[in-house]
Amino acid sequence: MSRETEAIKERLNIADVVSEYVKLKQAGQSMKGLCPFHQEKTPSFIVTPRKGSWHCFGCQKGGDVITFIQEIEGLEFPAALKLLADRAGVQLPDYKPQVENRRQRLYDLLATTTRLYHEILMNQKAGAQAKEYLVGRGLTEKTMEEFTVGYAPHSWDTLSMWLKKKGYTEEEMVAAGMVGMKDKGGTFDRFRGRIMFPVSDTQGRVVAFGGRIVPWHETGNEGKYVNSPETALYEKRRTVYNLSRAKRHLKNSTPCIVVEGYMDVVMLVQAGVENVVATSGTAMTDDHVALIGRFTNVLHLAFDGDAAGWKATIAATSAALAGGMRVETIVFSDGIDPADLVKDTPDAVQGALAATRPLVDVLVERIGAGSPQQREQALAALLPLLRIVRNPIEQGAMVDRVSRLLKIPDRQIVELMQKESAPPAIVRAAAPVQEEAFEDPREAMLERQLLGVLLAHPEMLASDAASLSSDLFLDPMCRQVYNEIQRTQQSSQSLPEQYQSFLVALQARAEELAATSSFSPQEEVRTMVRALHRRYIRSQLHRLAQEGSPGALVEFQIELTKLAEIDA
Ligand code: CTP
Ligand code: MN
Repeated sequence: MSRETEAIKERLNIADVVSEYVKLKQAGQSMKGLCPFHQEKTPSFIVTPRKGSWHCFGCQKGGDVITFIQEIEGLEFPAALKLLADRAGVQLPDYKPQVENRRQRLYDLLATTTRLYHEILMNQKAGAQAKEYLVGRGLTEKTMEEFTVGYAPHSWDTLSMWLKKKGYTEEEMVAAGMVGMKDKGGTFDRFRGRIMFPVSDTQGRVVAFGGRIVPWHETGNEGKYVNSPETALYEKRRTVYNLSRAKRHLKNSTPCIVVEGYMDVVMLVQAGVENVVATSGTAMTDDHVALIGRFTNVLHLAFDGDAAGWKATIAATSAALAGGMRVETIVFSDGIDPADLVKDTPDAVQGALAATRPLVDVLVERIGAGSPQQREQALAALLPLLRIVRNPIEQGAMVDRVSRLLKIPDRQIVELMQKESAPPAIVRAAAPVQEEAFEDPREAMLERQLLGVLLAHPEMLASDAASLSSDLFLDPMCRQVYNEIQRTQQSSQSLPEQYQSFLVALQARAEELAATSSFSPQEEVRTMVRALHRRYIRSQLHRLAQEGSPGALVEFQIELTKLAEIDA
């Protein structure tokens, strides 16, 4: 156990930490409560502060304060340690204090912005009408507090003046996505006349905002919602609104309800539904699915009852099925969204959410299955969906359903599924364009993670990463940065200015890796380098197979041997 781990365990009382998640009662030397990791009616979850340990006699889970945080927050060891270190005031060794410091300042900037907007909404004259509007939409003050909803007044500089007073530079305000730069110099607040919903990362740190225009400032020229741009702290495809709160209420098979908007989430939570999240303004990506998948494997999609909601449902179902999730849909009547439902018929909410249906059923119902032509259409729509399902049991069940609904034998459906294995059109439509160079978006991440770790440990360029070469990188920006690192390492210069913001992103990738890996950086680097080689050889094999000449066949054999060597 490292010195830091010891210090953390010494300084924190495990009972205090656990109490934030579980109601505990004194029971002799120990404390007792309902286990958060399985369903139970009588408490068998014991915390023993003297030993710094916990144990559940029902599900047999147990450990120390760190494993508790790992389990309940869905974090790997390093991330759990970091969370507790912050709480205990223990300094963990940072490997890039400079970059770390800058990131921390951006988090702080967004936190103080959240407080400013919230204060304006709750207590200032400038926010009075906005508060009235929200109350009119059914939001209570308690909910506004809970989500630290705010109001950005209709002004060009309220925020920038405030942040300047707090010691932030214009460059930092821009980097955090809160202000824009005017052509002639100077800044303008990005959000004006908008209700502000702070968006947090999984650990609960504000990383962005979604802002809804208030009706009396609407001119028709601006979007109903404006979201923060992507920044070093905020990647849309990897951010799930309200997951930081909802995760406490998600256990392995508790469904995670996914809705479209901020208002839907906030209103549902107000109605007592806690297991709800939103992707907010973007289609659901495989990263969203993976993030939620750390907590549960069941998704209930509750998108708006309109054409856009229906399209989103199909795209999200594909992403979720491809990610190995079980998915059901909740269908609302025309023009209704969950927020409306909570406001208009609060008593019907629970019932509506419980009435989930498999997408297959809803699709068949919409298309109809009366005529042979309708059945053919329905099958054509369903085949791509069936093909991408990763969980074989789910796939079997879906084939079964389709077979019964369309009166087509299982066998025939399976045959058709195998016939055409091109990625289904809906998945292609859902995938962002810039990732197209990669078969798998995780591969794009791989290059960034590798560079991130190498930046922190440049000495590995000559050892564990010595076999790298720039043509192994597919991402042009990664390739450039790799070349730069090589060059600057040899002459021990620092990297040119223009790469700084990309470096922060790389650092984030590396941190993420560190937080989800129990291996040493050396081992990680070796694994990642191997993966890049493997990918490169595969592409060579692919090219040679297409060529089909006798010469190519020889080369093909050589490449195959290389691949076998890597995998050995
Ligand atoms: N959205 C967006 N940009 C828009 C419109 C919508 O980013 N121009 C996103 C927002 O995250 C929004 C969600 O899509 O919360 C759902 O949109 P919509 O149903 O139009 O808004 P509601 O959340 O229902 O908002 P309201 O009820 O206030 O109209
Ligand atoms: Mn809506």
